[in-house]
Amino acid sequence: MAVARLRVVVVGRGKLGRAWLGALRAAGVEVRSRAGRSVRGECLPDADLVILAVRDDAVATVAEVLAATLGSTRPCRAAVVHCAGRLGPEALAALGARGVGVAKMHPLLAVADGRRAPPFAGAWLHVVGDARACRVAARLARRLGMRVWRAAEVDHVLYHAAAALLANGAAALGAVAADLLAAACGGAVTAGGARTFARMLGALLGSVAHNLTQVGLPGALTGPVRRGDAAAVRAHLAVLDDVAPDAATLLRALVGAQLPLARALGAPAVGLEAIADALRHGGASPSAASRRARAVGPFARVKRPRLR
Ligand SMILES: NC(=O)c1ccc[n+]([C@@H]2O[C@H](COP(=O)([O-])OP(=O)(O)OC[C@H]3O[C@@H](n4cnc5c(N)ncnc54)[C@H](OP(=O)(O)O)[C@@H]3O)[C@@H](O)[C@H]2O)c1
Repeated sequence: MAVARLRVVVVGRGKLGRAWLGALRAAGVEVRSRAGRSVRGECLPDADLVILAVRDDAVATVAEVLAATLGSTRPCRAAVVHCAGRLGPEALAALGARGVGVAKMHPLLAVADGRRAPPFAGAWLHVVGDARACRVAARLARRLGMRVWRAAEVDHVLYHAAAALLANGAAALGAVAADLLAAACGGAVTAGGARTFARMLGALLGSVAHNLTQVGLPGALTGPVRRGDAAAVRAHLAVLDDVAPDAATLLRALVGAQLPLARALGAPAVGLEAIADALRHGGASPSAASRRARAVGPFARVKRPRLR
């Protein structure tokens, strides 16, 4: 069966814009790219879908520019969507007022480099807006093998805070963990060694993603808190208090967040109470070295690897 043609314009040549471009081309979609800072409304009438992949704070302005420069002679059949997680479809009100179908179309995907983007297939797409724009967005999702989440009554900022906490927080945790691996290896690490750490930790994080997707919550939790192993948690806190007090602060917060999951999974109550107690009482007392480190400054406190 012939697939109906879908003509897409991607506005914005940053990380996500380039990633959309690559994914759509690979899926055989007819796609053109426009620079965010110089786009005009003439590109609209010939497209089925215009994807605004511009900075959050430029979305409304770009919509206003497109609306103001949309010719009045030809009807506009294109739908326009933006990709800003924390904004609703109303950010495109200027286009909606000109009769253009508008929606938010936010990929729950972390794109750090548009030319080396993760697969769009399997990722979720939050789509909310008017019926016409949502229909085209759903067509695009089908072409790319994405899954559509259509929740309309959403606090967009809270939704985006959840996504940012996980995706951006995990990258930051990766950096802290890489520093700790370097410290565990004596502190002097080559550039090649640092890349190896990033790959090792990426593969570990991939296994966490697998557990979240395949096992769900709370079952995705693994490790000493799940086992109620207070001795292991105390040992981790003690070494971090000594070597990297900021990482110890992170670990305390994250151990606290694991406790309800471990309880729900039936971990031994005695062990969990001992872990909660270690959190309440601050764990092991910091050594003189770490007290000196505390005076220095954030994350310089981790004994950072020396690259050579
Ligand atoms: N990266 C991700 O993982 C990701 C994931 C989901 C959603 N998003 C959303 O996607 C959008 C783009 O994010 P990004 O990560 O691709 O950001 P980015 O790499 O910083 O690219 C942003 C692009 O915005 C355009 N821009 C900047 N200032 C502008 C202005 N004053 N007027 C018009 N356009 C302007 C530029 O396009 P030109 O260079 O073409 O002018 C720039 O390349 C944001 O809304 C973001 O929240 C990103």
